[in-house]
Amino acid sequence: MFRLAHLSDPHLGPMPDTRIRDLLSKRVIGYVNWHRSRARSMTATWLDGLVEDIHATAPDHIAVTGDLVNIALDLEISAARAWMDALAPPHLASLVPGNHDAYVPGALRRAIKAWAPYMTGDDAPDVAFPYVRRRGPLALIGVSSARASGPWFATGRVGSRQAKALRTQLQQLGAEGAFRVLMIHHPPHRGATAWNKRLTDASHVRAAIKRAGCELVLHGHTHLATRMEIDSPNGPVPVIGVPSASNSPGHKRPAARYNLFSISGSPGQWHCEMEERGYPASASSDAATVEHLASRHLAIPG
Ligand SMILES: [Fe+2]
Ligand SMILES: [Fe+2]
Repeated sequence: MFRLAHLSDPHLGPMPDTRIRDLLSKRVIGYVNWHRSRARSMTATWLDGLVEDIHATAPDHIAVTGDLVNIALDLEISAARAWMDALAPPHLASLVPGNHDAYVPGALRRAIKAWAPYMTGDDAPDVAFPYVRRRGPLALIGVSSARASGPWFATGRVGSRQAKALRTQLQQLGAEGAFRVLMIHHPPHRGATAWNKRLTDASHVRAAIKRAGCELVLHGHTHLATRMEIDSPNGPVPVIGVPSASNSPGHKRPAARYNLFSISGSPGQWHCEMEERGYPASASSDAATVEHLASRHLAIPG
């Protein structure tokens, strides 16, 4: 039995003191937004409790699907690295970046440099997406959909080179009998988000899965708990979205939670149980503990 925890979108705060020069860009909107809503609804307390619960659960590996930061200031990026180090060492956690990690041109390059040990493939000298990491029966495939986009846009793009490499890797890893887990920040299924937040070339990701197959897709970005599907040669692949790991209860989006997948079996006969752990909608900050919220069986193609 291999246990994989999935969390996403911690949007780590509080925002460091910001110089006016740093805000001359799309960041002005992000900074105002953060102070208006995220500072209120996303607090470290909830995230700290969630991380404590993950440590107590002691999964074999942790998948983190991006939006570690808010407007990708250098201080946020270095603080996010420290947060990842406290979460788990690089061989036990794998990360893909989100649109907030690429908030303005140049930010993604700095984030990748700072977070490289969590995004480097097993035998790769440097970060190159998609990366592949083998852990037990799993092959974790990290795809980057993070791109800087214009004001009021939170779109993502994989690009044709990465989509082509993804298809090749899925084929190879499928032939090896691995349980393939695709990690991507933006949801790749149809109609997943508003137009200005979508993965612009989601059809390329779906085409790679449709041709080569995959066992499980994990994403963030929507801050919602969703279960969708993408077609593959052996049947529908579960596509699982997880809410933000730091959202406080009592807001429009679900409270902080993570998913824990227990995977066993062999190629063609995989067994996967998903447990949702987090805070109930009614939790108050004085007496909030992470709870078991739901369990479900996922049908894995095969
Ligand atoms: Fe997010
Ligand atoms: Fe996002």
